Amino acid sequence: MKKVFVKSYGCQMNVYDAERMADALAAKGYVEARTAEDADLVILNTCHIREKAAEKVYSELGRLREMKKERATEGRQTQVVVAGCVAQAEGGEIVRRAPVVDLVVGPQSYHRLPELLAEASARPGFVDTEFPAEDKFDHLPAPAREKIRARGVSAFLTVQEGCDKFCTFCVVPYTRGAEVSRPVAKILAEAERLAGAGVREITVIGQNVNAYHGEGPDGRDWTLGMLLERLAEVPGLARLRYTTSHPRDMDETLIAAHRDLPALMPYLHLPVQAGSDAILAAMNRRHTGDEYRRIIDAVRKARPDIALSSDFIVGFPGESDADFEATMRLVADIGFASAYSFKYSPRPGTPAAEMEGQVPEPVKAERLARLQAALDEDRRAFNAATVGRTVDVLIERPGRHAGQLAGKSPYLQAVQLETEGLTVGDIVPVEIVGAAPNSLFGRLAAGPPEERASAA
Ligand code: SAH
Ligand code: SF4
Ligand code: F3S
Repeated sequence: MKKVFVKSYGCQMNVYDAERMADALAAKGYVEARTAEDADLVILNTCHIREKAAEKVYSELGRLREMKKERATEGRQTQVVVAGCVAQAEGGEIVRRAPVVDLVVGPQSYHRLPELLAEASARPGFVDTEFPAEDKFDHLPAPAREKIRARGVSAFLTVQEGCDKFCTFCVVPYTRGAEVSRPVAKILAEAERLAGAGVREITVIGQNVNAYHGEGPDGRDWTLGMLLERLAEVPGLARLRYTTSHPRDMDETLIAAHRDLPALMPYLHLPVQAGSDAILAAMNRRHTGDEYRRIIDAVRKARPDIALSSDFIVGFPGESDADFEATMRLVADIGFASAYSFKYSPRPGTPAAEMEGQVPEPVKAERLARLQAALDEDRRAFNAATVGRTVDVLIERPGRHAGQLAGKSPYLQAVQLETEGLTVGDIVPVEIVGAAPNSLFGRLAAGPPEERASAA
């Protein structure tokens, strides 16, 4: 029996893809290993978004080279595969830099993984980074019921892939290709299978998930708002989320879904990147700071308690002190419940990498520290404001200590509670009694939450 270990870097799309690769290989008799040391086949599912992420792959490959060499002396074989966005971006260059690699496979070819592995056995260093005409989702086998449940009560479901936005800093349109939406019927079938196996929460994902425009049962293109409305009817599913969305695609149907669907959790990750209009234009984001504020106003009107989250880049080429202050003002105006922030990292082949006015490293570091301090404070304030409230918690797993359970609030906060008689998958009202930087503590509440935040 052969064993496979998939190590994923980067975004949720890679987490989802890792499961699909494991499913494709399970159909050929592979079982999942917990570590690379325990596996005959090691797949690095890589991320190319920033230089640091991409470079990690090569240090990992150095380690695998030693492992493979040592095993070879014992007559044992190891196959090493590089998948994901570095595979797509660098292709054959990876094999030249790291000859330990047997196969380089781009994200659009995962359904062909078993045959590509056979190909690579005969010709080590094989590269497949094509964008095939057929839909990989049609050819990826469905996982068994027990396997779905073992992966947890909260699952990702890809509904859209690729991006046509071409922000000037970003590699995704090149690594994931043009925007493609899956048809509603296929998404529903997958959601029903997940719910049937015990999944309670689905996060629909896409590089640009709210640009979703898949074919509906009526033959027309459906929006993400329409899709969410239909998904909310799937028996057993109590919670819906989506990520990552773009401000340009926050349409009426999606904002209305936040008002009308109790199952749609009050949480929105809506990357803004920067607060200065000049920088937003140079990034090709195609909206201004004020347009972003107006979108947030509309979303808050639809769902007043919504928790907001965002991504930020500091030190984009040409960013002046005044530009950066505009980002700080936007943060102060909105009050984010959580956020990710990064120093601008020039990526090969993207327009911003060639722009004048690259910002020196120490300036980026200082701006990032200031921004993160402000964002941290807002996150603490948001968590502190939850203390004393009663909120629904989806129990996801046993906690760190005996008798503890860990779950999520509607606002995606991690919650720990000590109680008996509950099982993973339950959704229960919890009174929040304390807050640490990264999680909340609660106890089972006698009554229902004051605002029912989920349709459990
Ligand atoms: N589709 C999403 C973002 C995907 S990438 C969107 O439209 O916002 C995730 C985040 O990585 C981005 O939001 C951005 O903040 C960051 N990022 C992307 N390219 C980057 C780069 N070259 N340098 C630094 N951060 C980057
Ligand atoms: Fe990248 Fe922009 Fe597309 Fe997001 S919208 S994936 S940041 S190009
Ligand atoms: Fe990284 Fe590719 Fe996701 S570059 S962020 S793994 S789409």
